[in-house]
Amino acid sequence: MSNKGRFITFEGIDGAGKTTHLDALEQAWKQAGHEVVRTREPGGTPLAEKLRGLFLHDAMDPLTEALLVFGARRDHIQTVIKPALARGAWVLCDRFTDATFAYQGGGRGFDLQVLGTLEAWVQEGLQPDLTMLFDLPPAVAAERLSAARQPDRFEAQDQAFFERVRGAYLARQQAQPARFELIRADQAQADVAQQIQSALRSRGLL
Ligand code: TYD
Repeated sequence: MSNKGRFITFEGIDGAGKTTHLDALEQAWKQAGHEVVRTREPGGTPLAEKLRGLFLHDAMDPLTEALLVFGARRDHIQTVIKPALARGAWVLCDRFTDATFAYQGGGRGFDLQVLGTLEAWVQEGLQPDLTMLFDLPPAVAAERLSAARQPDRFEAQDQAFFERVRGAYLARQQAQPARFELIRADQAQADVAQQIQSALRSRGLL
C-alpha cells in the first residue's frame, strides 16, 4: 500500500446528503488499512472550532466573514492537515475552500479575486487531490433539511442564495475539472453511493 497521503474534500449545498457517504468512505478506507483523518471546515482544531461558532451564528460584514474562515483554515492546515498528509494519512474534509468560493463568493457576492489572493496566501499551493461535489437543486436539498433543526446563518438563507452557491460550485468544478468528481445527489441514496464508488474506482482509490 502506498504511503502517500491523500487530501479529499466533500462539498455541496446544505442538504446535499454528504454525511452518510462520508461515514461509509471513512469506514471503507479504514478497513483498507489507511490512517483516516476525518475533519471539517470551518473547524477541525480547537481554535478553528471556536471561530466556527462565531462564523455560523454572529452577524458580520463579508470581508470579516472571509477573513475568519481563512483564519480558521490556516490553523487547520498548519496543525492538522499538513502533518497528517506528511505521515501518509488520508484526510477526509467536510468542506474546504470551494465552500468559500461558493458561499462567500457566489452566495454573498464577495470579490472572487480577493478570495483567490487569500487562498494563495493561506494554502501556499496546497489543494485537495480530489473534491467530491454533491450537486442537486436547492429545492430538493431544502426538503431534506430537518424542519426541527435550528438553522445557522447560512441554512437560513433563501433558495436564490443557494442557487448562487450551487452555480459558484459548478463554476469551480468547470474551471478545475480534473480535481472534481461531480455527483448527482438528487438520486436515491444507493444510487448516489454507486456513483461515488465508480468515480473512486476509476481513480484507483477504492
Ligand atoms: P456544515 O458543514 O454543513 O455543517 P452542518 O452539517 O453541521 O450544518 O455547515 C457549515 C456551514 O458553513 C455551511 O452552511 C456552509 C458554510 N461555509 C461557508 O459559508 N464558507 C466556508 O468556507 C465553509 C467551509 C462553510
